[in-house]
Parts: sequence; C-alpha cells; structure tokens
Amino acid sequence: MEFLLFAIIAYILGSIPSGLLVGKLVYNIDIREHGSGNLGGTNAFRVLGFKPGLFVTIADILKGSVAAALPLWLGTELNGIIIGIFAVIGHMYPVFARFKGGKAVATSGGIILGVNPLLFAIMLLTFFIALYLSKYVSLSSMVTGVVIVGVTIIQQEYLLTLVTGILTVFVIYRHRTNIVRIKNKEEPKITWM
Ligand code: G3P
Repeated sequence: MEFLLFAIIAYILGSIPSGLLVGKLVYNIDIREHGSGNLGGTNAFRVLGFKPGLFVTIADILKGSVAAALPLWLGTELNGIIIGIFAVIGHMYPVFARFKGGKAVATSGGIILGVNPLLFAIMLLTFFIALYLSKYVSLSSMVTGVVIVGVTIIQQEYLLTLVTGILTVFVIYRHRTNIVRIKNKEEPKITWM
C-alpha cells in the first residue's frame, strides 16, 4: 500500500511538464509545436534559449531526485531508486500533458543524483565527452545510459545495474525517431561545442 502511494506521488511529480509550463507561461510558446516537438530540456534549449533550457533541464532533474529521496525523507523503508522510476514514467507519459512528455534523460539523471552523486558526476562526464565527439545530444544520452550500466556492473552495485538498465531501455525506446534521423543523417548536431 505504501509502495503504491509513493509510486503515485512520484508519477505525479514526474508528470509536471516543466518545458510546457515555462514555454507557455513565460514565452507563450508550446515547445511541442517547435523543434523536435519533445517536452524535454534539449528542445527547451533549442526553442526557448539557454536560460529557459537550463531551467527546464534542472527542473526535470530535480523531479527524479526528489522522487528518489522522498521515501527516505518521510522515514519509510522503501527504496528511493525504485520509486524514482515512476517519476521517469510520469516524465515520459505525463498525466498533465496528454501523456506526451520527454525522453527520460534528465529525470533519470536526477534519480542517480539523488542516490549516488559520484555516479551522476561520471554520467555528466560521459555525456559531455560523447557530445564533444558526436555533437548529437540524443546519441550522447543513449551512450551515457549504456556506459552507466557498465559502470554499475564494475562497481558490483547490482540494484543500480537493474535500475539504470531499465532507465536506459526507456531512454533508447524514447529516442526511436532520433535513431532513424541519425541513420538518415537528418538529426541536428549542436553547434556550440
Ligand atoms: O533529452 C532528449 C535528447 O536526448 C533529445 O532531444 O529534442 O533532440 O529529440 P530532442
């Protein structure tokens, strides 16, 4: 019963469509109608600019961190990493935005930040190395997921392996259209790095 309650809270938290809120309330722009159409931080950077993009990314990260930390803060025995997964599901399929949300990257990162900051630092480093080499945010996000699963295996943190494995499957599944665009050489590359 307690698990179900926390899972629902995490899902609702993850469902907060920060990209949609910032776009509509501050700029009167629905970012789903521009750029890649995605509700995540990358498209907020692309459509709204640096500051709002950064704000949306941090907000999406925090959704995962708070959901993962909540069971501990409220003194339960529940494992925050597992609860955090429901925030990612909310982020991908938000009840407040007709179930069309982001691609699981920032909120997954937030869970890792909430439970293992060192692993989060490795994540960031991997992401920016991959981004520097490829110039594709989407590819870097997927590569980072796979690398992090490998790191948890090396660290013999098998619960984290399971959770990062699930999150990486989410990330790759949500990037299906990006994968097609990369294959067809139609995926936009970043130009600032
Ligand atoms: O965080 C999502 C990113 O990896 C790709 O986003 O908007 O380029 O499809 P987008």
